[in-house]
Amino acid sequence: MLALVALCLSLASSALGASWIAPGAVWQDTDGNKIDAHGGGVVKRGDTFYWVGQAASNQSPQMYSSTDLLNWKNLGSQASSVTGMWRPKIAKPNGSFWLYGQQDRYVLSLKSAQFLGGYSQSAKVHLPPNDYSYSDTGMFYDESSGKKTWYLLTSADHNVVQINRLNADGAVGDQVSNLIAGAYEAPGIVKADNVYFLIVSGKTGWRSNPNKVFSSSSINGPWTGGSDIAPAAENTYGSQNTFELTIKGSQATTYIYMGDAWDSTGGASSNYVWLPMNINTGAKTIQLQYHAMWKVDVNTGVVSYPATKKRYEAEDADLSGRSVVKGCDHCLSKRSVHQGYSSEVTFRNVTGTGSKQWLSFHYRVSNPEAGEAHILVNDEPAINISSLNSRAGYHNSIPVQLTLKPGDVNTITFGSTGKEDFEVSVDGIELFEQDDEEL
Ligand code: GLA
Repeated sequence: MLALVALCLSLASSALGASWIAPGAVWQDTDGNKIDAHGGGVVKRGDTFYWVGQAASNQSPQMYSSTDLLNWKNLGSQASSVTGMWRPKIAKPNGSFWLYGQQDRYVLSLKSAQFLGGYSQSAKVHLPPNDYSYSDTGMFYDESSGKKTWYLLTSADHNVVQINRLNADGAVGDQVSNLIAGAYEAPGIVKADNVYFLIVSGKTGWRSNPNKVFSSSSINGPWTGGSDIAPAAENTYGSQNTFELTIKGSQATTYIYMGDAWDSTGGASSNYVWLPMNINTGAKTIQLQYHAMWKVDVNTGVVSYPATKKRYEAEDADLSGRSVVKGCDHCLSKRSVHQGYSSEVTFRNVTGTGSKQWLSFHYRVSNPEAGEAHILVNDEPAINISSLNSRAGYHNSIPVQLTLKPGDVNTITFGSTGKEDFEVSVDGIELFEQDDEEL
């Protein structure tokens, strides 16, 4: 039994903003709308991070800003007349500001005299030196020898991943190196201890695959390697690379993998998977450090994870239909509720804050394709949990943000629909500490 009284229930009455990075979950901006910046990248100016990505509906470049990588303010479209621009990335090779992306398999470059807004078309070219058309755009800037050099990364057709310098006039300059090692795309570069790491994905359309890393002691190549950045069966935790961000803090340097968790069409229900990376500069490998929830302190560079405030065990909940309690080795209480077709597990007296808060549903399904799990919060209509987190069904801890009523008054019902043999094993629900709560 959960010792409810032993818990310090100082859950804040209002949990403003996002407190954790939850890979695969729907992320909301500061207006409460789903963040719409796919295939993007992040740059830092002063104390502020700017994230530019493509809007799912028309691939117009959209910008968001944040000072903590958690709470993102929508700054709107940066070039509203420009559509069909895939994977936009910011660069500043001179006094002007630039956005580069793919349009009709050309490199489209947009220029603006100021950082925010006002971008308009400057050029639309194929890739030098071979006039290749291409698909995916990446961006990297190198700060070695005291000056910043910007590099455009592209996955050219003909299975060439190219790295081209950006000239001072914003034009796509010389190719400095390339990777001709197979069908790769979605390139990004991160540099650690003077080793350059080039991360790419395989070419499997919107379906995720094991992304790989190649390395070199120079941006000029040659690139060698090709090991997986996550266990192969995880398919990069259901994501595809788009950008690498380095946070050099006062105590630690944290390297962040930024990927897209695409839906089946690259559409509006696509989410984001950001994870810290473990870079081994000796072995020349990268491993994503998977966590269902995490954050990085942008000043110290230190990564942390939420503390569980409260846990509700499925075997203590109200069971209906064919739900039965069984032993469960990986479950915290060593028991879980197995439910089949048309059965429900109802958790009562769940504590809410009255505003958005993180909870995690712990469950496993027999086969994510054979059915779906849903939740009902109080008297609201059922929600397919996959629409709140693209990891649902693929991982046994599924964080989602919900708004519950304040106090121990909420009822959450967990159910499933699917084929006769679709089985769900429900472990429990966890509530996490919120960002602005007094501990
Ligand atoms: C690849 C690209 C995506 C998108 C899809 C379309 O996955 O990386 O950006 O273009 O192909 O199939």
